[in-house]
Amino acid sequence: MAEMQQNLDIAQIEQEILRCSSLGELESLRIKYFGKKGLITQKFAELKDLDPNKKKEIAKELNLFKSSFEENFSIKKEKLENIELQQVLLNEKIDPSLFYATNERSLGHPINYTKDRIIEYFRNLNFDLCVGPLIEDDFHNFQALNLPEYHPARDMQDTFYFKDFKLLRTHTSPVQIRTMLAQKPPIKMICPGATFRRDYDLTHTPMFHQIEGLVVDEIGKVNFTHLKFILEDFLKYLFGDIKVRFRASFFPFTEPSAEVDISCHFCNGEGCRVCSHTGWLEVLGCGVVDSRVFEAVGYSNVSGYAFGMGIERLAMLTCQISDLRSFFETDLGVLEQF
Ligand code: PHE
Repeated sequence: MAEMQQNLDIAQIEQEILRCSSLGELESLRIKYFGKKGLITQKFAELKDLDPNKKKEIAKELNLFKSSFEENFSIKKEKLENIELQQVLLNEKIDPSLFYATNERSLGHPINYTKDRIIEYFRNLNFDLCVGPLIEDDFHNFQALNLPEYHPARDMQDTFYFKDFKLLRTHTSPVQIRTMLAQKPPIKMICPGATFRRDYDLTHTPMFHQIEGLVVDEIGKVNFTHLKFILEDFLKYLFGDIKVRFRASFFPFTEPSAEVDISCHFCNGEGCRVCSHTGWLEVLGCGVVDSRVFEAVGYSNVSGYAFGMGIERLAMLTCQISDLRSFFETDLGVLEQF
């Protein structure tokens, strides 16, 4: 009994608990007394060997000790938990005004980023956003665009054909046809989307993206001047302070047609590798809609203009990327640089 009391000095255990300076130490103390082989656990186990009177007396003492321990233990535990929490809060400062990392992630892929910037420009001018199917037929992709069978200009667009005369659209221009067939003029739309050609090298991939624009209104209401103005303004929005030039060109679905160049912003027009030492970068094709296209969709007494551009090309030029393939290799190390 004397020995028991010596071991079960409640004041002493209180001191031991008070001296604990961490949750770990406190837990060791609990194990020392109440773990599987703990001092008190053992004493509870020894009770069965004692005679009934003594058993009762010691059991009472043990239970008293136990409840005192538990009380002190839980008070101390709460205190220590609070201290540790304060320490964590002090060390792990969270600054909610620092949103750089999330911002960086939300910029997204250079192609989407460039596409969204282009869409934003035309949406601000109230252009509708249209879409069309990736698998097209000869009528929408070629014939209605004044590209009849055996027309030599079909060679410009190396086409992937399916067995049933369907094909993967080679440009977004068939969406012009679909929109005009589905709606009455006036029309003011852009349509972004994937396009496909049998081509693969440093600057061409079999799948790429274009954005097409089409404006149609009563005859005389839209003309080449409008087209020129809007494209110049658009290219300055996209590239900043550059020069824009229109070069006469040919597309079967526009007449007159033009290709548009911007002054090379890598060398300020002086000539470098990117612009093949010409000082100019070709960025899009455009023109006044050919009357044959209007005939094909049953429109009369209208005029309009159209333009089309490759998103990868514009992304390469705005994000300064020299190898087109890096867009499609899903290498985060490369993509995160943009
Ligand atoms: N469809 C043409 C191309 O893919 C681009 C274009 C669109 C040209 C509209 C003129 C008008 O090259």
